Amino acid sequence: MAGSPLDGAALAQLFTDARTQYGWDETPVSESQLRQLYDLVKMGPTSANASPARFIFCHSPDARAKLAATVSAANQPKVMAAPVTVIIGFDPKFYDRLPELFPHVDARPWFNWSADFARETAFRNSSLQGAYLIMAARALGWDTGPMSGFDKKTVDAAFWADTGIETNFICSLGKGNGQGVFPRLPRLAFEDAAQIL
Ligand SMILES: Cc1cc2nc3c(=O)[nH]c(=O)nc-3n(C[C@H](O)[C@H](O)[C@H](O)COP(=O)(O)O)c2cc1C
Repeated sequence: MAGSPLDGAALAQLFTDARTQYGWDETPVSESQLRQLYDLVKMGPTSANASPARFIFCHSPDARAKLAATVSAANQPKVMAAPVTVIIGFDPKFYDRLPELFPHVDARPWFNWSADFARETAFRNSSLQGAYLIMAARALGWDTGPMSGFDKKTVDAAFWADTGIETNFICSLGKGNGQGVFPRLPRLAFEDAAQIL
């Protein structure tokens, strides 16, 4: 089932040349492009196919301004300049959708026995889905600017009121203009981060 390794250009676009962006040019992102992005993101694996991430694409000037008001001062101009910033949230009661998403067995009791365990599962898998979003955006030729500098309670109240959904992180999307991109920071060496047992 696995394919061939991607070529160097593809790996560069996804990983080795790709940089987090902070400034954005005027290239718009359309609704159909956001739907195309989601159609890749949704295919990434999650526990029991539970797909706990929920996404709000702040695309209109009003939605972007509303989100910008909730982020740190340093992140405000980034959100205002980006054509779209997505809020990646997670539904701690994701298990309610399992009969549809994992229909061959009732998997709800695997998760709903403990609110803490369900929330941990939702957070873990929505983080993965946020990472799929970053990589899918890069694969489609977009840049990303993930951010955790925001007031979570304010974002939750402003965007997810009465849903029980909570914010994981936010991520700007578009064509980066390279502004504010610093020289690539070091990464941990294999020996510092990994073991083969
Ligand atoms: C979950 C997450 C949260 C981040 N939060 C912020 C943030 O609030 N503000 C910011 O300017 N950069 C933020 N960053 C950007 C990181 O500093 C950047 O991705 C990292 O230094 C790697 O940069 P590179 O992709 O250019 O190598 C965040 C990145 C991630 C993945």
